[in-house]
Amino acid sequence: MAIQAPATRPVNPRFSSGPCAKPPTFSLDALKDAALGRSHRAAIGKSKLKDAIETTREILGIPADYRIGIVPASDTGAMEMAMWSLLGQRPVEMLAWESFGSGWVTDVVKQLKLDAVVKTADYGEIVDFTTVDFDRDVVFTWNGTTSGVRLPNGDAIPADRDGLTICDATSAAFAVDLPWDKLDVVTYSWQKVLGGEAAHGMLILSPRAVERLESYTPAWPLPKIFRMTKGGKLIEGIFRGETINTPSMLAVEDYLFALDWAKSVGGLAGMIARADANTAVIGKFVAENDWIDFLAVDPAIRSNTSVCLKFSDDRIKDGAAFAKAVAKRLADEGVALDIGAYRDAPAGLRIWCGATVETSDLEALVLWLVWAFESEVTAQ
Ligand SMILES: Cc1ncc(COP(=O)(O)O)c(C=O)c1O
Repeated sequence: MAIQAPATRPVNPRFSSGPCAKPPTFSLDALKDAALGRSHRAAIGKSKLKDAIETTREILGIPADYRIGIVPASDTGAMEMAMWSLLGQRPVEMLAWESFGSGWVTDVVKQLKLDAVVKTADYGEIVDFTTVDFDRDVVFTWNGTTSGVRLPNGDAIPADRDGLTICDATSAAFAVDLPWDKLDVVTYSWQKVLGGEAAHGMLILSPRAVERLESYTPAWPLPKIFRMTKGGKLIEGIFRGETINTPSMLAVEDYLFALDWAKSVGGLAGMIARADANTAVIGKFVAENDWIDFLAVDPAIRSNTSVCLKFSDDRIKDGAAFAKAVAKRLADEGVALDIGAYRDAPAGLRIWCGATVETSDLEALVLWLVWAFESEVTAQ
């Protein structure tokens, strides 16, 4: 017997974990003032890039003495620029708990060939920060997008550390209150919590990170798009919007729109509140249904953006096939797009709960999850 489909559908079925849903008020018309066909070095281009940097500082509460740069190649570009430019001066500790963190380990161990201490945790868990030596340079991911975990806070990071902390905050920026005094390098891309476009990365540097850049030259060659110093001095222009190479002014306009929207919902506090409310919908749904669980068992480390779920029901014969079939059923119905678990992650679902997703859409989605689960249990 066919399971009755819910009456209400999500208005926006986009629950992808990147690129994420655009802000609810977005339309292409929002980009009509883009400085298209103009030089990014002309006054209009420069002022938009500077505005992007300073509005980012204002919303995220980034200290005045931290540099903020718009760099090529999205978050990956920002992270690799940081690692290639800063690492090698002192011992390194790499922390990884999912696919992207593991990618940074590969960069450092296999490409830069540094003899790093590598600490890993399984999907759904994080490394115990009390075991980390912060006199080393430490590289980690705040929010594990592919495993649905996040750091609960930065309390274990000492203020008087000798090493630098290099933090990939792609799925955390604009969804958590990052402790800037504990972080020397923070990166993210526009395509995540803000629902912006990919292409450019944000690279945020503490004064100590700048000091390292100005006092240390890595042993390996640095391509032009990684170079942040000239003659041993920081190229300050990069952090005023004089980008290393040509940015997309369309993507910049889109970012400015997303920042404006973030302000309109209450800035960082409003963005966090929206993500928390969204995650609470999933939390209630998981509590009410014994066939589904969070991949992150400990609530203290559960992400409020990339929420990862696993099925737990004895009737399921092939876990991976089942999860895929549920995601496909929902996509075919047009009620949830791109919610299958990441390709390297354990089988299950991954539902983006960042601020650009409407809580009412998640409330509609969970009813469809029940429908898809029951339909698939019957059909398998
Ligand atoms: C934690 C994390 N780091 C890095 C990336 C790579 O980001 P991008 O593709 O924007 O470079 C992602 C993308 O999903 C991510 O989730």
